[in-house]
Amino acid sequence: QYATEEAIAAGITELIFVTGRTKRSIEDHYDNTPELERELQSRNKLKELEQVREVLPPGVTCIALRQAVPLGLGHAVLCAKSVIGNEAFAVMLADDLIANIGGDGCMTQMTKVYDREACSLVAVEQVPRDETDRYGIVSVSGEPGPLARVDAIIEKPSPAEAPSDLGVVGRYILAPEIFDALENTKPGAGGEIQLTDAIATLVREGGVKAYRFEGKRYDCGSKLGYLEATVELARQHPELGNDFRAFLADLQKADC
Ligand code: G1P
Repeated sequence: QYATEEAIAAGITELIFVTGRTKRSIEDHYDNTPELERELQSRNKLKELEQVREVLPPGVTCIALRQAVPLGLGHAVLCAKSVIGNEAFAVMLADDLIANIGGDGCMTQMTKVYDREACSLVAVEQVPRDETDRYGIVSVSGEPGPLARVDAIIEKPSPAEAPSDLGVVGRYILAPEIFDALENTKPGAGGEIQLTDAIATLVREGGVKAYRFEGKRYDCGSKLGYLEATVELARQHPELGNDFRAFLADLQKADC
């Protein structure tokens, strides 16, 4: 839901979910819920009704696809080829939650850059040197600043092999040429068809830039990252933040 809100805020109106077996709850979440809406209406719970309707605002459509076999992120993106067609598109890995309280969301920042640069973009941030084997790692050149040309990209290199400590996080804007590259990409790290390896083909053609976004990224694919995101976002929540901060302060007192 956070990722879709980020996409919608960036002006994206067609959402494509690539899911897998046992993930039906995602499709259901974005579907109409006439029974629930009727119930809320009849009980005059209008605030809740609005929340339910806001899950997918008017004008935003949503398509769900199944990746029948888990052959990797690159393969998941390739599954959406026929739906996307011949245009640039964004990829968002929802387990990378990026918060930028009070400022533009990461995807809004990236679409603004794309409008200027019209080239494929990967979002990056500095990662600990000893964790390069968890990320796609880029080496870049050009002027220092938030935007740089990608010279090389490699999936999950060991710290010794990593060309830098700039890690790719789960936000991309990709040219449709990525589909040809994906179709010709052999299984790479972990035996999977890696999006990173297909991006490396676009890099060789000179068309990829790395963008250092503003905001804090939480790795919700790890247990600790998920907990950190939950606590941080609860602390800043417009409705619950005050009470939640008081609760945390009480916990801390009890620990002392
Ligand atoms: C994927 C990508 C990797 C990227 C990471 C960001 O890896 O393959 O290049 O750095 O997402 O979260 P995964 O986390 O799915 O192993």
